[in-house]
Amino acid sequence: MNHFDVRDGALHAEAVSLEAIAEDVGTPVYVYSTATLERHYGLMRDAVAAHRPALGEALIAFAVKANSNLSVLATLARMGCGADTVSEGEMRRALAAGVPADRIILSGVGKTDAELAFAIKTGVRQINVESAVELERLIVVAAGLGVRADIAIRVNPNVGAGGHAKITTGGSGDKFGVPVSEALDLYARAAASPHVRPVGLACHIGSQITTLDPLRSAFGVLRDMTLALRAQGMPVERLDLGGGLGVPYHGMAATPAPTDYVAMAAEVLDGLGVEAAFEPGRLLAANAGLLLSRVIQVNERSDGRRFLVLDAAMNDLMRPALYDAFHEIEPVRTRPGDPVLHDVVGPVCETGDTFARDRSLPPLQAGDLVVFRGAGAYGAVMAGEYNSRPLVPEVLVQQDRYAITRRRPSYEEMLSRELKAYWL
Ligand code: LLP
Repeated sequence: MNHFDVRDGALHAEAVSLEAIAEDVGTPVYVYSTATLERHYGLMRDAVAAHRPALGEALIAFAVKANSNLSVLATLARMGCGADTVSEGEMRRALAAGVPADRIILSGVGKTDAELAFAIKTGVRQINVESAVELERLIVVAAGLGVRADIAIRVNPNVGAGGHAKITTGGSGDKFGVPVSEALDLYARAAASPHVRPVGLACHIGSQITTLDPLRSAFGVLRDMTLALRAQGMPVERLDLGGGLGVPYHGMAATPAPTDYVAMAAEVLDGLGVEAAFEPGRLLAANAGLLLSRVIQVNERSDGRRFLVLDAAMNDLMRPALYDAFHEIEPVRTRPGDPVLHDVVGPVCETGDTFARDRSLPPLQAGDLVVFRGAGAYGAVMAGEYNSRPLVPEVLVQQDRYAITRRRPSYEEMLSRELKAYWL
C-alpha cells in the first residue's frame, strides 16, 4: 500500500498535488512519501516484534544503496531503523541522518583499508566479511588501531534468486560471500585472532525475490552452519538474513507479504537463540517513491507508432535500460479518450533510453505530467548526468507539506566541478 492517490481528478503524494510540485521544482523530479516509508517500516518492525523469541532483538537495517537521500534515511532512522551500508559514503550518510553507529552494518565485496578503518573507528555494529583475503586485511587494520572488531562471515549458500541475472547474488559463481565449505574454517580463523570477534553469519542471495522458497533454503544453510559452529565450540550470536524480498511493480502482481516473510524466518531460526538482522531496501522504499516527468512532445509516425517523449531519461531512471525493469506509468491527470499504445522514451541519444514499448495509456499530449511508480528504490541513487543532464532532484512529502531534499544543480554548478587542463 502507498500514499499516492487521485484527489480532485489529479494524482497527489499524500495531501500534496504533484502538479504543484512540478510547477515549483520542475521536472523530472523524484517524490517520496513519508507516510509510505513509515508504513513499510512499521510493518516490518511489528512483524519482527511478533516473533521476538525466535528472532531476538532483531535489527532492521535499511539497505542504504536503495535510497540514500538524507531525509529518507532520517525518516527511517527516527523510527529506530538501522542501516546496511557498503561504502564510507553510505556510512557517512547513515550517521549524518542520525542512525546510531551500533545500528550500522558494513557489507560489500571490496572494502578498502580506509573504509574498514573508518567502520572500526566509528564503532559500527558489525562488518560482514566476504572473503578470506578480506579477513586477513581486516585483522591487520584492526590490529593497527588496537581494537577488536565485531564481524560476521557472509556465506554464499549457493541459492541464487532474484528478478534479473544482474541482481542475483547467492549463486556459487557470483562474486559474493564465502562458500559454505570454507566458511567454517574462516570462522575459526577469525575466532583465533585477538583483533576480530566473530559474532555470526550473514547472507544475501539476490533482489526482487518473489517467492519465499529460495530465502527459506538460504536461511536453512545459516541454521545448519550455526549448529555446526557451535558443535565446534564457537559462539554464534547473530544471523544477518540480508534483504531481497520483492515488491509488486505491476498492479496485479502478488509478492509475499512481509509478515509471511518474517514468520518464515522465525520458523527457520526458532530455538537457535540468535539475534536476527534484516536488510530490506526495495521493500521499504520502492513504492514510497515516484519519478514525476513531463511530456515534451508526442511523435506520431505514419507507421502508427506513437512515441511519448518525456523529459525524464535513462540517466534519471536506469532500471528499464539496465534490467528491462517494468515500472507502472500513469498520467497525473486522467485525460478523456480511449487508451492508445505508446512507446515511452526519454530524450537521450540511445535506443536503450526506452522506458516502455506498446504501453496502453490515455492519449497524452505535450505538457502532460506522468509518473513512474515504484521508483523510490534504485531510482535517484543510480541516476547520473549522461548527455549533460543535471542530476535529478528529490522531494519528500509529509502530509500537506513538502521539502526539496536534493535540489537540481544549475548548469553553472554542473560545469564548475570541472577544471580545464592547465595547458588548454
Ligand atoms: N543487503 C545486501 C548485502 C545487498 O547487496 C542488497 C542489495 C540488499 C541488502 C538490499 O536488497 P533489496 O532488499 O533492496 O532487494 N539495482 C538493482 C538492485 C540491486 C540490489 C543490490 N543489493 C535494481 O534496481 O533492481
